[in-house]
Amino acid sequence: MNKIPVMIDCDPGIDDTLAIIMLAGSEKVKIKAITSTHGNVGLEGTTRNALALKDFLGLDCVVAKGASKPMIVSQKEASTVHGLNGLGNYDIPAPVSKVETAPAWDVMYRLAKEENGQMVLVVLGPMTNVAITILKYPDFKDYIKRIYMMGGSRNWGNHSQNAEFNIWGDPHACQVVLSSGIPITMADLQVGNEYGFLGTEITELYSHAKKLKPMMDRFQRHDKIWMQSECDRLGMDFDYDTSITTKYDSTAAAALLMDGDGLETEDYYVICETQGSETEGQTIFDYSGRFGKQPNVSLVVKMDREKYHSLIRNALARFE
Ligand code: RIB
Repeated sequence: MNKIPVMIDCDPGIDDTLAIIMLAGSEKVKIKAITSTHGNVGLEGTTRNALALKDFLGLDCVVAKGASKPMIVSQKEASTVHGLNGLGNYDIPAPVSKVETAPAWDVMYRLAKEENGQMVLVVLGPMTNVAITILKYPDFKDYIKRIYMMGGSRNWGNHSQNAEFNIWGDPHACQVVLSSGIPITMADLQVGNEYGFLGTEITELYSHAKKLKPMMDRFQRHDKIWMQSECDRLGMDFDYDTSITTKYDSTAAAALLMDGDGLETEDYYVICETQGSETEGQTIFDYSGRFGKQPNVSLVVKMDREKYHSLIRNALARFE
């Protein structure tokens, strides 16, 4: 079976790591590159984590460093959710491999051209690197078969009232990607919320990990700490096992791996707000066709939950 060539642009990140594990553990895809961007933690942290994960997972791919800050807005971060080192403070073995000397955008363009239009891009953080590539290489879009992105929200936000973190992290970059003409499958915030996991489900899924078990246990411990702190802040009782834990980036990986078998999408024309003082980073879905434009996004609206869970379970078990 011909494997799907994939590049992963990300800001690892606990859920980025789960998505990378799912893709690395699948016979369906071949990871050609992991590119780092600012996001959950700063670029130095996300780059180190990408390199360390490449070695830890034994991946035969390149790692390239991307943008250290957004195109125009101020830089954001989410170390509360992901730990100061971005990996729930898990002490991942130091990387031996070296990062590419060329920046992410040059590497993404070079590798995409080698795959004759079959390259798939999985985007799990702010979209700055992808936007730079599109702007620097106008024919880049001709070499990308589809983008699977975690980002956006069809209603409320998570790191701002109206915007989802990745898009809020660089709304201008998102608008460049949305207007590029590259086919896009979007796993927005609502997908991650709807297909979140009970604590008991995470415990069961992570129990299948072998070599990765210490890392997954650390991730889970960190989740419990920050979820407890959030509940304390809101004056709410907290019980991990019955609470919903979201792993947003894993829904984008699942969308790629399930496409055509267990995934349902709806097509919409979507823009990203870049000017609003309270709505910066909001993704606006043209449900009524008011803009009179052709759809530019396939929004994930349903996934086979058991298939989703088995993708995670099986991938975790593959690494020994
Ligand atoms: O809003 C969820 C997104 O923000 C995920 O990509 C997560 O890693 C964080 O970056």
